[in-house]
Amino acid sequence: MKYSTIPSLFHLSIFVVLIISASASGEDDQQEYSNSDPTYSTMPEEPRSPLDHYHLSFNYYRQTCPMLDEIIHKKVRESVAKDRTLAASLLRLHFHDCIVTGCDASILLDHEGSERKAGPSKTLRGFQLIDDIKAELEKLCPKTVSCADILTAATRDATVLLGGPYWMVPYGRKDSRTSIAKVTDSVPMGHESVTSMLELFQSLGLNVIDLVVLSGAHTIGRTSCGSIQHRLNHLNGTYDPVIDDKFLDFLQRKCKCESENEYVDLDATTPNTFDGQYYANLEKKMGLLYTDQMLYSDSRTRPIVNTFVQNPSIFKHQFSVSMVKLGNTQVLTGPNQGEIRTNCNFANSY
Ligand code: HEM
Repeated sequence: MKYSTIPSLFHLSIFVVLIISASASGEDDQQEYSNSDPTYSTMPEEPRSPLDHYHLSFNYYRQTCPMLDEIIHKKVRESVAKDRTLAASLLRLHFHDCIVTGCDASILLDHEGSERKAGPSKTLRGFQLIDDIKAELEKLCPKTVSCADILTAATRDATVLLGGPYWMVPYGRKDSRTSIAKVTDSVPMGHESVTSMLELFQSLGLNVIDLVVLSGAHTIGRTSCGSIQHRLNHLNGTYDPVIDDKFLDFLQRKCKCESENEYVDLDATTPNTFDGQYYANLEKKMGLLYTDQMLYSDSRTRPIVNTFVQNPSIFKHQFSVSMVKLGNTQVLTGPNQGEIRTNCNFANSY
């Protein structure tokens, strides 16, 4: 059935769900963010109870490292001004950190057999910027700010610099002491079904709206030709049918050498701006990854895509809500959980 441009009752109900979910987030500096509850709670700031160890908080570093936000913002702004592609790379780095074993900076640990050394991490970038921020913060507030919190806040700042929405980052994540390459087997690489992506997201407390809205991160950044080669090659005498003919022709020419170092913009229309164009591309069969395009083919996700095409501002607002949820995934906050690394690349030796 062809979708009408007039909002259907179904679109309107999605709209309402998104608005409710968005308004549940709030953006109040005084609120704290529970580790177990994906919506903001209204716990009072004072007095602090021992249980606060288990919560992320907007005030977490207020006493111990008040310059934190300013320093992270300055470093990200300087780096992205020099190399705009870094913004997308940070966003992806944060996703890869959170999607397996939670947002614990395990992706940053740099040793044989760590997540960072695994195949799915091969094209990740942004590590040096996190190291630079950490080095600066260690001078001002030693052994205080976790690498997981730095990566989460830097990702937010990078997104805003490319025109994306702002969101409040609650702090208090600890860094993991370990990182195992094998867990990256579950990182989605672009050839998965919608069902398996939904199952992965649901296992982390993220829902179908989070899947569609967070995939919208592909409004910026690029992919290596290797990640789309399976869409371009002749399979059983046919090409991937859900791809625009001219776009296919362009991609086949661009990726013909199968070079590892050849890249294609994920959003063919406005690659350097964080906007809703990604969803409009899907309507035109111009989604670059198979997993992107499938969001428009699948009846569970297509209505959400249609809503974002018609209302890009809802996409941006919902993106900020879902990013807070992603950043709160399986965080280490208890007194015996994790540590504050002094160097993001290595677990502390003490
Ligand atoms: C939902 C399933 C997802 C799949 C299957 C997927 C897959 C991919 C793939 C294959 C690439 C290209 C990698 C390469 O060849 O270098 C990529 C890039 C990227 N992904 Fe995703 N991704 C998903 C979700 C996300 C999410 C949730 C975010 C962030 C919230 C994200 C942010 C990015 C960004 C920004 C890039 C571009 C990176 C750069 O330019 O350096 N992705 N993704």
